[in-house]
Amino acid sequence: MDVHSWSRPDLIRVRHLELDLDVHFDRKILDGSVTLRFEPTAEPELVLDTRDLEIHSVENAAGFELGARDAVLGSPLRIALRAGASWVRVRYATGPAASGLQWLDAAQTAGKRHPFLYTQSQAIHARSWIPLQDTPSVRVTFQGRVRAPQGLQAVMAAERAGEHFRMQHPVPSYLIALAVGELEFRSLSERSGVFAEPVLVDAAAREFADTEAMMRAVEEMYGPYRWGRYDLLVLPPSFPYGGMENPCLTFATPTILAGDKSLVALVAHELAHSWSGNLVTNATWSDFWLNEGFTVYLERRILEKVYGPAREQMEATLGRRELDREMASLPVSDRVLHLPLEGRDPDEGCTLVPYEKGALLLRTIEREVGREKFDIFLRSYFDHFAFQSITTADFLEYLRRELPNPVPLADWIFQPGVPGAAADPHSDAFSRIEAEASRWQRGQSIETARWSTQEWLHFLRILEQPDLARLDREFHFSQSGNSEILHQWLLMSVRAQYEPAFPALERFLGSVGRRKFLKPIYTELLKTPEGRARAQRIYRHARPAYHPIAQATLDALIAPAS
Ligand code: BES
Ligand code: ZN
Repeated sequence: MDVHSWSRPDLIRVRHLELDLDVHFDRKILDGSVTLRFEPTAEPELVLDTRDLEIHSVENAAGFELGARDAVLGSPLRIALRAGASWVRVRYATGPAASGLQWLDAAQTAGKRHPFLYTQSQAIHARSWIPLQDTPSVRVTFQGRVRAPQGLQAVMAAERAGEHFRMQHPVPSYLIALAVGELEFRSLSERSGVFAEPVLVDAAAREFADTEAMMRAVEEMYGPYRWGRYDLLVLPPSFPYGGMENPCLTFATPTILAGDKSLVALVAHELAHSWSGNLVTNATWSDFWLNEGFTVYLERRILEKVYGPAREQMEATLGRRELDREMASLPVSDRVLHLPLEGRDPDEGCTLVPYEKGALLLRTIEREVGREKFDIFLRSYFDHFAFQSITTADFLEYLRRELPNPVPLADWIFQPGVPGAAADPHSDAFSRIEAEASRWQRGQSIETARWSTQEWLHFLRILEQPDLARLDREFHFSQSGNSEILHQWLLMSVRAQYEPAFPALERFLGSVGRRKFLKPIYTELLKTPEGRARAQRIYRHARPAYHPIAQATLDALIAPAS
């Protein structure tokens, strides 16, 4: 049972959806219908998840009732079925504040000429734009028909088939996605390409030029890419995530367009989800680490193959350090892989623990059994569970059967923290940075011309009470065009109350909506009374441009000004 859904897939399982939607930018609503198909059933009732939907009618049903709204789950839509029914059609419209939709005015786009709409269904937001069984344990095939205003292009995370979109593989609801805007396309290879606003599309194509090489790298290790095309869509900067692995069409933040491919680990990550997550899916949000831990492990293997071991070692070392830092601030009960999410919004369970601790577990098993055996295991795991949703228990049973290993799995999964015998990433490049950092802290000048983004990040993170004015004077961090470096710099500036960086801080918070950047900076600001006042003032202005999901996170963090 999935505690984050009202639906009862144990009684009826929806197998196919037909979506038919009109996009109204003037009223900020989607309006249309969804037809849900299932095996003919004698069950009296089909329960769907909804949140803030306006239900107009249900066809081929004996009646319907919308239940009370739960703050986390939304409202159950209880549909009384006719005997032997195998479909119903719900006519509905979305609410103006749907949690899974962001409606952007032209001014919030790069091109400034046309409005933009995109969906974000993970974890449980699909229900705010489609009434359905919103649990990752249910998979559906679907067809979509979307009518957008003249001059704007609609794209769905699916195959384009004439007037329609079509997904012929069964997918969980959190992977259903739509975007509408002024989009242009650039081809990257026979089977991949990028959509973006016209002013960004060439830069995006340059940044993502290695996509085909990454696809081949995973295919060599874990078997063919099974989804046909792999395209990317660059969203406006308010996108609350770095990336979202919508099948056939990864959604990505423009903040990874650094100009030098230094942040494309994100592409490797979202691509890897085509195996870990989209092919083999967590059955509940407590099993989220099966999606993300496996994906970070695969992401690093791709980086190693495409960019070499040194790059992989740096990313893995950064990951381990950030995990330790974040874990120290989490309640002990959230330092486990199998997350306790009962009564909570699964978005809030999204810390680095399922990502980095999950990846460390796989790396530790790899170390114990050897890479060759582990790769054979992973490949058979993806084949064995392809297009299924599985629990942590399913994984453990399969692992114990197929790949005996000495790793204390129960400790890893159910106990807090990282076991002492974990694999321990190391980077020689970072050892050199550490030596340079101490030279710099002794007042000497250092040669940084060839440093990578990862080396800069490590440098900034290991400095102890550095002189920020000197850092900015020598290295111009406040003007950095690299979002990760700028974010790290701004975080340090807030911590040290380094006023000269605050104009850059305000610009950043006012233009970027990525939750991973916003949450740490606002959290740091809130630690002092002056910082709190500043946070409240900045947030008041910036909030309308943030995504509902980022708003929810920050509303909970930043108490309204008293
Ligand atoms: N699927 C996640 C994003 C997500 C997680 C959305 C939970 C909603 C709920 C995506 O694959 C992801 O992990 N994105 C990361 C980037 C990655 C390189 C670690 C992000 O957005 O920062
Ligand atoms: Zn991910």
